[in-house]
Amino acid sequence: MTLLVQITDTHVVERGTLLYGMADTARHLAETVSEINAMRPQPDMVLITGDLVEHPGPTTYSHFRDLIAPLEMPVYLMPGNHDDPEIMWTYFKDTPMFPAKPPHFQYVIEHNPFRILMLNSHFDNSELPFFGPRRLQWLDEALAASSQPTLIAIHHPPFRTGIGFIDMVGAHWYKALGEVIKRHPHVLKIICGHGHIDLHGRLGAVPVQMVGSIAHQLIACRGEDIAPSFDNLRVPPMLHSWLGGDLVSGYYPWPDGVDAERIDKSSNMNWEDLKDRMRGAMKPVQ
Ligand SMILES: [Fe+2]
Repeated sequence: MTLLVQITDTHVVERGTLLYGMADTARHLAETVSEINAMRPQPDMVLITGDLVEHPGPTTYSHFRDLIAPLEMPVYLMPGNHDDPEIMWTYFKDTPMFPAKPPHFQYVIEHNPFRILMLNSHFDNSELPFFGPRRLQWLDEALAASSQPTLIAIHHPPFRTGIGFIDMVGAHWYKALGEVIKRHPHVLKIICGHGHIDLHGRLGAVPVQMVGSIAHQLIACRGEDIAPSFDNLRVPPMLHSWLGGDLVSGYYPWPDGVDAERIDKSSNMNWEDLKDRMRGAMKPVQ
């Protein structure tokens, strides 16, 4: 089984400060890192799908790097709208975490039995996404290079979310992306971040999953365009499990002390006997 963890929108700020004076993003990320290290079974890798820091620069990337250093499995990064791909490339060049190349800053993770394409939707000096001809051509060629099942990761959601300020860019930026993906039916799924909210959509026939943020969640009205509010909570890590040729996804918290709550312990019964009871093969416990 292949287990892939995704976390997103960590928005790390300068040491000793809070995001918007409210969210302790360093604490949220440190808690997430220990939760991932404690997971059973241990994941094969961690993807962090953009907005690694709030303001890109050596100080914030150094803080981010220190916070993720304890992760015990390979980690892969991509830029979000708050990042700067060039600074990331310079800063993480001596690590295996961001093997992207300029000018597109995209890369492939070869990981049997499926491949992962890490895309770049960053647009300089804007919150909005961009996916121009050069990035599209790279994607088309990367998808043509192998017929292995493929997971695509990108920061911005390539579907209509119903959230006014996310949708204000329009559908044109992902129209060509959808056309390229349609030509390559081995694309299994697209995962993204950006919205700080859980939402599932579709690009053509391909499911798209937007994952909540480690920094804070957004309370965003859908259908009516009013300004969003914040909820100072992190989500648990998202686990994408490779099961019989498909990816099955869900949050997978593994908090400290979880063993104390195990039902075999609280019911004082052997786990194999409990499963027999679930199957109906055992007499009811007296
Ligand atoms: Fe974000």
